[in-house]
Amino acid sequence: MWPLISLSFILYFVPCYQQFPRLCATREALLTKECCPLWDGDGSACGTNSGRGFCQDVEVSDQPDGPQYPFSGLDDREKWPLVFYNRTCQCTKNFMGFNCADCKFGYFGVNCSERRESVRRNIFHLSRTERIRLLSYLNLAKHTVSRDYVVATGTYREMENGSNPMFANMSVFDVFV
Ligand SMILES: *[C@@H]1O[C@H](CO)[C@@H](O)[C@H](O)[C@H]1NC(C)=O
Ligand SMILES: *[C@@H]1O[C@H](CO)[C@@H](O)[C@H](O)[C@H]1NC(C)=O
Ligand SMILES: *[C@@H]1O[C@H](CO)[C@@H](O)[C@H](O)[C@H]1NC(C)=O
Ligand SMILES: *[C@@H]1O[C@H](CO)[C@@H](O)[C@H](O)[C@H]1NC(C)=O
Repeated sequence: MWPLISLSFILYFVPCYQQFPRLCATREALLTKECCPLWDGDGSACGTNSGRGFCQDVEVSDQPDGPQYPFSGLDDREKWPLVFYNRTCQCTKNFMGFNCADCKFGYFGVNCSERRESVRRNIFHLSRTERIRLLSYLNLAKHTVSRDYVVATGTYREMENGSNPMFANMSVFDVFV
């Protein structure tokens, strides 16, 4: 069953913010607390010059933390991502991603304005060739280092409050899972 479960992650993935954009896993980004990488398309932070997004102060809810945070004041995930960053890209329209380079799920095209339906198919209804292709891609994802994301290997304190970044590569598969 796992390929189905993984696939549903890929197709219905709700962005999870506990991975770090590689471009923001730097000493400079951590010390300034700004994670607003340039968009390749026009070389501006968050693609601002093309109307894709803006670099903005992060606003987080001031609701009290839930019971999943028993270590008050110690858990870096509290008020995420404020421990690490207080300015990030806020994307407009159908743009998405840490630098607004991507389209929201279901949207395609250079301006992310083309809506296309994605259909999740039952793995048991795939042909043998399709099934082999699916599994090959999953396998490839497990063996491909993510270009965009890394994972933290230490706490903010352990990173000496940002001056000693501690991050490791992760696979494309891990990014989704
Ligand atoms: C964001 O963090 C930086 C670095 O600690 C700090 O200088 C700045 O005042 C903070 N900005 C806001 C809006 O809290
Ligand atoms: C994308 O948007 C730009 C700027 O609004 C526009 O000039 C261009 O024609 C659009 N391209 C497509 C393919 O829609
Ligand atoms: C990190 O910040 C904390 C709280 O401001 C401070 O107590 C600690 O000494 C700092 N650690 C380093 C290595 O700068
Ligand atoms: C992490 O991945 C990048 C990009 O693929 C590569 O250049 C780098 O050497 C890798 N680092 C480690 C520690 O494996």
